Amino acid sequence: MTERNSFRSEATEFNRWVKDWLFKPEHKVGTEVLEQAVDIHLISLYKELNFHELLEQHSDPKTLAAALNYSDSAWIALNAMLKRLSDRHDFIACIDDTQECKRYRPIREPVDKSDELAAHYKTMEQLGAEYVAPLEFLEFGRTHFTQALGLDHEFMDRVLTGQEKEHNETWNRATNTDPLQDIHGIMGAKAVEMLFEGGTILEVGGGTGNGMRNNLDYLRDGGKSDSLERYVFTDVSMPFILNTRREFKGRYDDINCDWRLLNINKDWAAQRIEADSTDLIYGVNAAHIAMHTVDFLKECKRALRPGGTIVFSERLRRHPSDMAPREIVLNLSSYHRTAAIRHPEYRPEHAYLTADNWLRAFELAEYTLCEVWPDKQSNDSYFTDQYAAVIVGRV
Ligand SMILES: C[S@@+](CC[C@H](N)C(=O)[O-])C[C@H]1O[C@@H](n2cnc3c(N)ncnc32)[C@H](O)[C@@H]1O
Repeated sequence: MTERNSFRSEATEFNRWVKDWLFKPEHKVGTEVLEQAVDIHLISLYKELNFHELLEQHSDPKTLAAALNYSDSAWIALNAMLKRLSDRHDFIACIDDTQECKRYRPIREPVDKSDELAAHYKTMEQLGAEYVAPLEFLEFGRTHFTQALGLDHEFMDRVLTGQEKEHNETWNRATNTDPLQDIHGIMGAKAVEMLFEGGTILEVGGGTGNGMRNNLDYLRDGGKSDSLERYVFTDVSMPFILNTRREFKGRYDDINCDWRLLNINKDWAAQRIEADSTDLIYGVNAAHIAMHTVDFLKECKRALRPGGTIVFSERLRRHPSDMAPREIVLNLSSYHRTAAIRHPEYRPEHAYLTADNWLRAFELAEYTLCEVWPDKQSNDSYFTDQYAAVIVGRV
């Protein structure tokens, strides 16, 4: 394993690759369309649920959720929704944002803009057939909003762990077909290809296989698959493991793959992940799932050999209280809302972290190196809100 105290030359190469090769005008246009489309859905819900009147009596999301008979943590989804709307529109104002549960004042009834959705679908179709997948995913959230926050409050947890067969294709399209999501897997794979020096790769939260597919394709194309001794694909969901294994049959038969259950919130040793057994730990939008970020990073450290590497491809928030468009769905999962144990320095809100949150968490877990790729500048010129990035670390 190469000794190093910085990834400087790799970071420079990665920044250049992102700008010259990965980011395409379609990503920028697609992202902008998605940002507008989610607001259209949120405004429709706001009107349908009569929030303009309800907020006059219940100005904070906790009492609002109680008035709607929603589940205990549903206020977190309402809070994210109202914060997003008040940041981006003037029909509602945030009047106190000193607490995680903020307070809001309705100003006037918003105008429903649902009839603009057709034009957004058209724009996406012109970018490529697969660009409609993220729009469909938003609609899925809009359709199940009331059900999932109210009576059936475990519904979205089941969908996101493959236990709602009927909706598996929706999640598969949202994680694999959606090109705006696929760039997360591509970025992670490129970083692995640059940093992997042979041995075993362990993937956490592998789910529907976006990470593994991109990863193995990149290692192959980069001529590095011969140095891959073992690929350990893990997830907490047996249906996902079995489906992904079936999906990849015949495609990576030359790779020594191990398919394993791993709950990243539980003791890894008790789940047969030995200390000093892994050379690289990889995850695509999986690391933020950990309940206790620093403990999770310490478990990773224990499993890694000396000099071992972490590559986590993650959606990053620019500000802790930003709501990503796809959170119109994800916020309907009580796990997504509540699992993260909050910490002011690295976990101020639920689910996704900021770049600085990750850097601090790696520091507290005592890694020797942690960087966020690409640099902020490369992302800023492309994505104005939350964005895809890779957190790379070394023990
Ligand atoms: C956002 S998905 C990402 C899936 C995949 N990496 C991708 O990018 O398509 C998060 C994944 O984490 C898994 N997951 C949820 N809780 C987990 C846990 N406690 N331990 C391990 N994996 C978990 C889910 O089953 C899901 O596959």
